[in-house]
Amino acid sequence: MTENALGFGVDIGGSGVKGAVVDLRTGDFVGEQVTVATPQPATPEAVAEVVAQIVRQCEWAGPVGITVPSVITQQVALTAANIDPSWVGANVREVFSAALQGSNVAVLNDADAAGLAEVAFGDEAARSGAVVFLTFGTGIGSAFLMDGTLFPNTELGHMLIDGAEAEQFASSAARDREALNYSQWAQRVDRVLHEFSKLFNPTAFVVGGGISQNADQWVPLLTVDVPVVPAALRNRAGIVGAAMAARDHVAP
Ligand code: BGC
Repeated sequence: MTENALGFGVDIGGSGVKGAVVDLRTGDFVGEQVTVATPQPATPEAVAEVVAQIVRQCEWAGPVGITVPSVITQQVALTAANIDPSWVGANVREVFSAALQGSNVAVLNDADAAGLAEVAFGDEAARSGAVVFLTFGTGIGSAFLMDGTLFPNTELGHMLIDGAEAEQFASSAARDREALNYSQWAQRVDRVLHEFSKLFNPTAFVVGGGISQNADQWVPLLTVDVPVVPAALRNRAGIVGAAMAARDHVAP
């Protein structure tokens, strides 16, 4: 396997920081995924130390792609809805690169990364048409994909629906918090999808995040008049998309 057929991706989440070596031709992991609990407080510097630890543990020397649950423009984090407020304004490329002893890094929004990975390695439905890709986890992440091309940094999880941000009542965390069963939670997701559908008229929704593992328990309950397709890469998508970003946006 040639060296540049491999990449390294790290996905930063509310509870865990996960990394793996990725075969960029197939989207599969090479070796085991390494997961470390997200440090608290999850400041950029503390998280960057954990990223460096994961990279060392995997014995990776090369560019590193990293996802953050934040709007990222020109490698600066602009929002911090579910992460420490100190991320706002942080030059994430500099913070991660310093912790990684000068390695090249590419940083992007977590849902954007996952959406791009689904385009590359997931269901055909993610690749064509006007697709709204959504992740359900601590928050609700979104990626707009037009024939596989990303319109970055959409933040549909924060859209006000019936007076509340969508992710406050329809994320997977809201389901846990309120101990909702799948049918109760699916009704909330359905409400959100109806609203998104009315405003954006996508050809399909692709739904990911940890809860997509149990898609058969809630996707069939949705009544929205647009195909809803479970993400094929499930929990792998963020890491794979991060590794792809490192390949596409930084020098080897
Ligand atoms: C953040 C998004 C992120 C999503 C999923 C939201 O709260 O604002 O940037 O993609 O959570 O993690």
